Formats: sequence, C-alpha cells, structure tokens
Amino acid sequence: MRSILPDGYELDDDSDRIDREAVHLYLSGESYWAAGRPREVMDELIASAARIVGLYAPDGRQVGVARVVSDGHTVSYLADVYVLEEARGRGYGLALVRCAVDHPSIANTKFILHTRDMHRLYAKLGFGAPDERMMERWPSR
Ligand SMILES: CC(C)(COP(=O)(O)OP(=O)(O)OC[C@H]1O[C@@H](n2cnc3c(N)ncnc32)[C@H](O)[C@@H]1OP(=O)(O)O)[C@@H](O)C(=O)NCCC(=O)NCCS
Repeated sequence: MRSILPDGYELDDDSDRIDREAVHLYLSGESYWAAGRPREVMDELIASAARIVGLYAPDGRQVGVARVVSDGHTVSYLADVYVLEEARGRGYGLALVRCAVDHPSIANTKFILHTRDMHRLYAKLGFGAPDERMMERWPSR
C-alpha cells in the first residue's frame, strides 16, 4: 500500500519496488550495523522479509527503507532502518518506521530491535527498554 507524505514523498510496502542495489549500497557501505554485508545476503533478506517499506522522493528515487522479520503471530524484529541524509529531519523516518510496524499482518506480535543511538525515535512508537525476562544470544566470532 502507498501513502503520501508532505512535499511529494511517498511510502510504499511493495517489495518488488525496492531498489535492491541502493539498499545494498547504503547498508554495506555506510551503516554501522551491516558494513560489508554481501549483496546476495541482502537480496535474501529482502526476499524473506515479512514487510519491507521504501521511502521514495518526488522524483521516484528510493531514499529510505525499513525491514521487518516476523513469524506473523508472536514475534517481529525491526531491522535495517535508514533515511538518506538528504531527506532526514523532516519526520519521514518516523513515518517509515510507523508504516513498517503498524500493520494488521503483524499487529499482535511483540517487536524487538537494536539501536545504538535512535532510542528517541523508537520510543515515539511504543518501544521501551527490555525488562529482566529478555535474553540475547549473539553468534561467536
Ligand atoms: C534514524 C533515521 C532513519 C531517522 O530518520 P529521520 O527522517 O531523520 O527521522 P525523523 O525526522 O522522522 O525524526 C524522528 C525522531 O527521530 C529522532 N531522531 C532523529 N534524528 C536523530 C538523531 N540524529 N539523534 C537522535 N535522535 C534522532 C528524534 O526523536 C526525532 O523526533 P524529534 O525531531 O521530534 O525529536 C536517520 O537519521 C538515519 O537513517 N540515520 C542513519 C542510519 C541509522 O542510524 N538508522 C537507525 C538504526 S537503529
């Protein structure tokens, strides 16, 4: 589904519209969490996403993405959220994440995410610090 944002920007959850090359370029080249992620891995993650939402500029270029992994019933994970610098600071990041997580197909699941410094953004959408029941297991290196 598409939704129109101020100044002609647009959100679209059509995974076929995702510019896979642009996603790979940003995430593997510029993000702190997916540096060096191979293109074929990125393509697989996009293909298997429960939701992948693109943010598009008025000229049609993709300028942001958010990806959700989910089992559809119990748990979802929000990942790979970014907005290119040219479009930041105008509320699009918040709209992008809201569109990714507030969807009937995953509405009843609990959501998990990791962030280094964007806690304020996610707090606006109901995310909070984990309680004592939460545990994590990271891959050994
Ligand atoms: C995070 C990101 C997607 C936000 O996109 P954006 O379009 O600039 O965000 P918005 O304009 O919708 O801002 C929404 C809220 O996010 C928070 N926020 C935005 N930029 C922030 C920053 N630099 N530092 C801390 N909080 C920030 C604020 O709470 C802001 O609301 P406020 O202006 O009312 O305080 C964008 O800055 C980005 O792509 N950063 C680099 C990649 C990244 O860190 N991704 C998130 C990984 S968890």
